[in-house]
Amino acid sequence: MGQREQWGTRFGFIMAAVGSAVGLGNIWRFPYMAADNGGGIFFLCYLFALLTAGIPIMILEFGIGHKFRGGAPLTFARMNRNWEWLGWWQVLVCFFIAVYYVVVIAWAISYVGFSITQAWGDAPKDFFFGKFLKLTGGPFELGGINTQILLPLILAWAVTFISIYTGVKAGIERVAKVLIPVLFFMVVFIAIRGVTLPGAAAGLNFLFEPDFSRLLDYKVWTAAYGQIFFDLSICFAIMITYASYLPKKSDIVNNAFTTCLTNCSFSLLAGMAVFSILGHMAFTQGVAVKEVASAGVGLAFITFPAAISTLGSAAPLFGVLFFLALTFAGITSLISINEAAIAAFMDKFNMERKKATVIYTGTAAACSLLFATGAGLYILDIVDHFTNNFGIVFGGLLEVLLIGWLFNLKSIKDHVNPISDFKVGNWWLFSIKVVTPLVAGYTGIMTLISDLK
Ligand code: PFF
Repeated sequence: MGQREQWGTRFGFIMAAVGSAVGLGNIWRFPYMAADNGGGIFFLCYLFALLTAGIPIMILEFGIGHKFRGGAPLTFARMNRNWEWLGWWQVLVCFFIAVYYVVVIAWAISYVGFSITQAWGDAPKDFFFGKFLKLTGGPFELGGINTQILLPLILAWAVTFISIYTGVKAGIERVAKVLIPVLFFMVVFIAIRGVTLPGAAAGLNFLFEPDFSRLLDYKVWTAAYGQIFFDLSICFAIMITYASYLPKKSDIVNNAFTTCLTNCSFSLLAGMAVFSILGHMAFTQGVAVKEVASAGVGLAFITFPAAISTLGSAAPLFGVLFFLALTFAGITSLISINEAAIAAFMDKFNMERKKATVIYTGTAAACSLLFATGAGLYILDIVDHFTNNFGIVFGGLLEVLLIGWLFNLKSIKDHVNPISDFKVGNWWLFSIKVVTPLVAGYTGIMTLISDLK
């Protein structure tokens, strides 16, 4: 194997890392989590989680990826011969996420087209579950592959395949440098129009007004920490891999702060865009915002189409922009999650990039067909629940426990500090050793308990 590939520029690396972090999670998951967990109070908890877990783990992952120069399995193996399996665990999580995440992107691509004619008519819910997904009665009733989704699915895989096949600098970096700035402008545009609509204020109030009575509610805190892990793409191999392509002289701490803060600002912006438009819909229907705000998949593919329809002649434009934004955000994340797995195979088997890309994306694409069946949404829900709540959380918990307690954590601090302007100190060591294991452990156990009930 030749020398490890490298990013071309610092900007390119930041765009790729932000591209991974900014994903479907920011656009549909974040607004609904905030609204459901006490609005403004959720933000405070989220900011706290960002400072005590998000940024410290990002610095850790950038630091170890950069120091040990490998995908997750190789990096962990270089830290301790017995830890390679943890890297493979995280790679497995990547695989399970990728095969369903790509299908949600395929839905978004389809909805770009539907937006032009408002194909969902007056009944976006029936349209989504019935006409579009052709949802069957349950997870065991597959009902054949939905040919409508096939073309967008192939498109999403093709873009991902080409970006990774062409390499870190010529492929992944170049795609991120175009898609992320465009994505940012699209969302700013939607947000500006959104906040100037009648009724927007009620939507924003719903999102931001703090419900202080929930400050001590553990559910709000676990939601905030859970959101931070998924949101920043940490604890599932990606950021370690991306950092392994950084040049020797890279400001690790600054890069970590920039990535985290850009991602979180983007979440805020997306939240404002979505909720101001929902506020407008509630206003036109004469109901409270609470009545129209629904959760998860439903928010993006049912509630939002209905809200867009209330924009009159501007509806096609905003529909296309919103679903294109969702598509761009999703694709750059999908690229990162596949790269994390492909890099692991290249490291392990000394495989050439092109060969590894063909084998891995071919396999993942074939498996993703399962989610394009009439039972896809049911299976997606189950896989999503287990990968997020157990796969990521326990993978992250083991990562911080092993590195924090059984590895010389100070050696990573000593690696990061000389090349960074802003130095990490005791707060960082404390976060990794104490705060993050406690919250990840608590979050994992609480979800386990509520699942068993
Ligand atoms: N941070 C990403 C998001 O918010 O959607 C998390 C992610 C999910 C990254 C899926 C990559 C991916 F394939």
